Amino acid sequence: MINNDDIIQELEQPIRKSFRPIDFNNFMGQKRIIKQLNLMMHASDKLQKNLDHLIFFGAPGLGKTTLAGLVANSIGSNLVYSQGQSLTKIGDVAAILSNLKENDILFVDEVHRLKPNVQEFFYTALEDFYLDIVIGKGPTAKSMRLDLQPFTFIGATTRLDKLTQPFRDRFGVIFKFEEYTKKEISKILKIHLKTFELEIKDDALDILISSTKSVPRIAINTLKRLHEYCLFHNISMILKSHILDCLSLLSIDETGLNQFDFKLLEVLSESRELRPIGVKTLSSLLGEEVDYIESICEPFLLKNGLIQKTSSGRIITTKGLKFLSDNKI
Ligand SMILES: Nc1ncnc2c1ncn2[C@@H]1O[C@H](COP(=O)(O)OP(=O)(O)OP(=O)(O)O)[C@@H](O)[C@H]1O
Ligand SMILES: [Mg+2]
Repeated sequence: MINNDDIIQELEQPIRKSFRPIDFNNFMGQKRIIKQLNLMMHASDKLQKNLDHLIFFGAPGLGKTTLAGLVANSIGSNLVYSQGQSLTKIGDVAAILSNLKENDILFVDEVHRLKPNVQEFFYTALEDFYLDIVIGKGPTAKSMRLDLQPFTFIGATTRLDKLTQPFRDRFGVIFKFEEYTKKEISKILKIHLKTFELEIKDDALDILISSTKSVPRIAINTLKRLHEYCLFHNISMILKSHILDCLSLLSIDETGLNQFDFKLLEVLSESRELRPIGVKTLSSLLGEEVDYIESICEPFLLKNGLIQKTSSGRIITTKGLKFLSDNKI
């Protein structure tokens, strides 16, 4: 059986040790979501009622887990962390739910990976805070009602389309995480540069920002490598040449494309007569999961007009072909 205390501790550790903001002031962007969340938290406090169930939907690295942690901190609730793919047994789910205390937050990452029967099992828990459990098998089987404490379910997903409609309907709000602006990414970078005691020239910062695909996680990861680079070379003021050198070591180009993105473009460019390639074929040719290609790689390439999605697969655009011949990494 899964021990809730272990799960809680597991999440608290990375939150403290990682680069996650510990309060809303250091959480950049997503202003609309924060505003609505504030309203909801205020009302639930006034009405002495649990916060309604929420879905955080958006591309990887945009801050879904971080925000769930901030909500829990802000309302003084425990955050019980779990992952859709590990909640496979109804018995385990029942144990987790019955161990929840009043106003706890059950955070389920990759919630779209919950199997349909598990999603169904959640229905009564989400709507009316009880479970109908069947004990035993065959003619002697008995159904038992188990009351639960009012809790809040926060599900995070990169694939809203994979959640069934009745399951979605049991959530108060579905928050779609927006793309970060350059200004917001710049603020995130500056906060961490300061803690690393590093300064940066404006033209160097501009390149650093463009290399992040506007994703906070990429920004933080690149910054950690840059910090190591600066320690090694004894640098305290980062110049454009340092950034370019560091990015080339990481095989990331100035627009944020990495080796995998280039490989994907190459595979599409090598397709006979530039015929479309399906995502499953791409996945086996590139040795990467379909999910990674669809939720991490493609959105950026599509947004920048380097590839196109057709009903029969993906094709490289003229811009993509030009980009490939101009920019080999
Ligand atoms: N709005 C933000 N302000 C500051 N830092 C952020 C913000 N959003 C995310 N980060 C940082 O980016 C990193 C990734 O965020 P997080 O893990 O919350 O993303 P996620 O949406 O849960 O990703 P995944 O879908 O892969 O689980 C964290 O280290 C976090 O500190
Ligand atoms: Mg996450």
